[in-house]
Amino acid sequence: MARVTRKIGLSLGADICWPLCYEQILGKLALDIDFGGDRIGVECERVTIEPFDLRQPCRYDVVLDRLTHWYGPSREWIKKAILMDRLYVLNNPWSVQSMEKHTSYCAMMALGMPIPETWMVPPKAYEPSADLAPTLKRYAQLFDLGEVGGAIGYPLFMKPYDGGGWRDVSRIADEAALRKRYDESGKVVMHLQAAVDPFDSFVRCIGFGPQTHLVRYDPDAPLHDRYTRDKDFISDDEAQLLRDTTLTINAFFGWDFNSCEALRKNGVWYPIDFANPCPDSQVTSLHGHFPWLVIAKLRWSIYCAVTRKAFRRTLDWSPFYEVAAQDLPYREKLRAYAAIAEARFETTRFEEFCAQHLSHLDEVAWEFFGTADAKEAFRLKVTALYPKHEIEAFTELFWGRVQAWRSETAPKGA
Ligand SMILES: Nc1ncnc2c1ncn2[C@@H]1O[C@H](COP(=O)(O)OP(=O)(O)O)[C@@H](O)[C@H]1O
Ligand SMILES: [Mg+2]
Repeated sequence: MARVTRKIGLSLGADICWPLCYEQILGKLALDIDFGGDRIGVECERVTIEPFDLRQPCRYDVVLDRLTHWYGPSREWIKKAILMDRLYVLNNPWSVQSMEKHTSYCAMMALGMPIPETWMVPPKAYEPSADLAPTLKRYAQLFDLGEVGGAIGYPLFMKPYDGGGWRDVSRIADEAALRKRYDESGKVVMHLQAAVDPFDSFVRCIGFGPQTHLVRYDPDAPLHDRYTRDKDFISDDEAQLLRDTTLTINAFFGWDFNSCEALRKNGVWYPIDFANPCPDSQVTSLHGHFPWLVIAKLRWSIYCAVTRKAFRRTLDWSPFYEVAAQDLPYREKLRAYAAIAEARFETTRFEEFCAQHLSHLDEVAWEFFGTADAKEAFRLKVTALYPKHEIEAFTELFWGRVQAWRSETAPKGA
């Protein structure tokens, strides 16, 4: 029986709190897993940025990446390691780079998801270039923005086709406001999307591999209160629908980690933003939900590293489209899409693995989130984000919410 060590790389930028917690809990787990005839330990290390030979080997089995969406050199190193070294990475870097919100809307419309009516409009202004004037002169049709707005109906949302972080998003009440906001939108290529209005519930479903976590979301609250602490806010059937929706999206795009926003109106859940392959991961936004995320990251990355789960190098959309072409009610199609997703995420095998090899994880994490080290990780994140005079109060706020989570999830006898 060989003793082997699997290595997990953390490819990080501004993240502070979750890596500290992840590293410390992984150390405390002291893994020595009997798997496939080997005894397997798992270590992690932060990936550094440096010149690399395209043929050099990669020392990681799994990389948790948080940089690909904006930092090219790390993205290209990851691509090389997937293509040449059998690396498993979260998330698929090609997919993160090219599947903007627009693509995600189109694909999920094709699968039958109730995405609100959405149009794309050419931008108000352009970066000058040699070919621009002849192209626009020959082909750009004059259009009446009011007609497009009328076809969609008001209120509507104007937002970038490749959005993220609420940049340039506006809620538009009428045609005059649409014209004004469009004139101000400059070079940004915009979608106009029917508002789900009024909605009676807003949920974010965080997906991590086959694990999902539902949170009622309050977009009008200050940042630290947007992920609410509500419980029992939807029925079991609705929870299953949102899980199926999220896993379908994530498996389709090769995103192991993503967050799907959906709004409910008249009993229908409308997904409105689900191209979030680098979602909120900080204690300062997730607070009482933060331990769930750290534990989910640990479970899935350890599973992928120990079992050497093969990275799916192509997205292979055909099975989804084959279901879409069938004459079935949407809910049944969604169930079939989710079955493809559960198979790709190996849900059953993953759950068995966790039960057999990671049964101590919940308790180790629960203990850790009550330590001074955990509190220090929170404080460091708060210090990076808040003005000096608020550091103490917000550290206590997030600490208190995580302690509330500990009270609710305390193991028997603790
Ligand atoms: N169709 C819509 N109906 C209702 N609210 C919407 C709609 N689209 C966007 N919003 C609101 O605007 C916010 C930002 O839009 P979103 O599409 O999530 O952009 P981003 O990708 O920047 O997060 C959402 O969280 C939601 O509160
Ligand atoms: Mg959003």
